[in-house]
Amino acid sequence: MGDSTTPLRNLRIVVLISGNGSNLQAIIDATQNGQLNGEVALVISNRKAAFGLSRAEKAGIPTATLSLKKFKDAGKTRVDFDLALAETIKTKLAEGRPTADNEPYLIVLAGFMHILSSDFINQFPPPRHAIINLHPALPGTFDGIDAVERAFHAFQAKSITHTGVMIHKVIPEVDRGDVVLQETVKILDTDTLETLEERIHEVEHRLIVEGARVTLKRLVEGKGL
Ligand code: GRF
Repeated sequence: MGDSTTPLRNLRIVVLISGNGSNLQAIIDATQNGQLNGEVALVISNRKAAFGLSRAEKAGIPTATLSLKKFKDAGKTRVDFDLALAETIKTKLAEGRPTADNEPYLIVLAGFMHILSSDFINQFPPPRHAIINLHPALPGTFDGIDAVERAFHAFQAKSITHTGVMIHKVIPEVDRGDVVLQETVKILDTDTLETLEERIHEVEHRLIVEGARVTLKRLVEGKGL
């Protein structure tokens, strides 16, 4: 990584999660084994029980939890939540590296089950920042939740032969936005939903690391997404 035009810098990565965090783990592992030239500086979950938080703690990474339900119970809106999430990212990163005011950083949505509004997205404009999302389907297909399950049923109904995984830039439209990387996953006649999910996860764990690598390189080059 890093060539003559891209100085090696340990750029910070913020990972947003909601659950198991196996994709977060793939990113952490890649930063530790030198595959990814970056540092996971913060993990935020919108669910207190997310196992990914334990993975982050085990790796010594600062964490935070923000619950939309708590905001709603307090009479606040989704926009309030999104603004608080953005503020948490900025504050925690500033605490962690006080001299890093102008350093770019990457935000990765890795199984983050919350639709971010433009109020959040606009806080992290290119070229200094990038926000990417992992979606277990190909561009323009099966937007939203349960994408693998819906693809599996579409296969059973003989409407598709394959599905895939993509990494894309986050825009207010769910699972849309310029594609950073994509990979096709063939669905087999012998597949069950579980075996298909397993193969999708394997691709996800590779693609999320590669998507982060490509995007970090763009940030280092001052390009953004
Ligand atoms: C992934 O399959 C992702 O595509 C999806 O949620 C899952 C998250 O898995 N939308 P994990 O929390 O990274 O293990």
